[in-house]
Amino acid sequence: MAAIIDGKAISLQVKDELKKKVEELKEKGIQIQLAVIQVGDNPASAVYVRNKKKGCEYIGIGSLSYELAGDVTEEEVLSLIQELNGREDVNGILVQLPLPSHIDEDKVIKAIDPKKDVDGFHPESVGALCIGQPGFVSCTPAGVIQLLKRSGIEIEGKECVVLGRSNIVGKPMSILLLRENATVTIAHSRTKNLKEVTGRADILIAAVGRPKMITRDYVKEGAVVIDVGINRDENNKLCGDVDFEDVAPVCSAITPVPGGVGPMTVAMLLYNCVESIGLYS
Ligand code: GUN
Repeated sequence: MAAIIDGKAISLQVKDELKKKVEELKEKGIQIQLAVIQVGDNPASAVYVRNKKKGCEYIGIGSLSYELAGDVTEEEVLSLIQELNGREDVNGILVQLPLPSHIDEDKVIKAIDPKKDVDGFHPESVGALCIGQPGFVSCTPAGVIQLLKRSGIEIEGKECVVLGRSNIVGKPMSILLLRENATVTIAHSRTKNLKEVTGRADILIAAVGRPKMITRDYVKEGAVVIDVGINRDENNKLCGDVDFEDVAPVCSAITPVPGGVGPMTVAMLLYNCVESIGLYS
């Protein structure tokens, strides 16, 4: 039976380290504040935003909350971002995605000052990551690296397969694994012989957004399986991209959903907020 990688416990470790750093910064008179913008009333977004604000409170940093109506105009969102870009008491700006379809997400992301882009979504942040320069790293993939490292799982030289090629997870995940000297394959919906490809992985990262798609026939015996998916199954119960019950008996370590990658995303957002002081002040 696989070891269960406890994302809740590891995220608490990270948050407690950050809490100490925040105290030290406060003693030097440095305060940190995150601005969170939420548009509309997507219930999943509301849960994520609440967890992010609770995380700020836990480590002792400020959070400003902007809950905008679903019919807000793109111009209004952009002008709020401009205002926050100019505020010295705001270190990080986060716009919770997805946005309603009448608002251009790319335009909104680009409007955020890269110095305050704690989500790591701005093209400048992504470019810096690709060429190994300092900048904010997308929180979910950064959290996966921390989960692996803090569980004593070596990445260097391993065959890593990332299933999914989104801008938020799949692409930055593959770059981060490469930075850790893994051999990386990105697989996706058009990949031929998918089971053969995922079956080569020492570390398999599932980020496709398809409930319980990964069964044991996709997984090499003894592999490490990281499940980034957050979906609802046929009974409306939270589940990942991995069929946990089926896969756990054949792998060496696995993340559960919930309680795996999810809490790490919040912890790494907080990490980025604290990091903003070192990177840009
Ligand atoms: N929507 C889903 N994941 C994320 C995330 O990490 N950040 C933001 N801003 N929106 C998201």
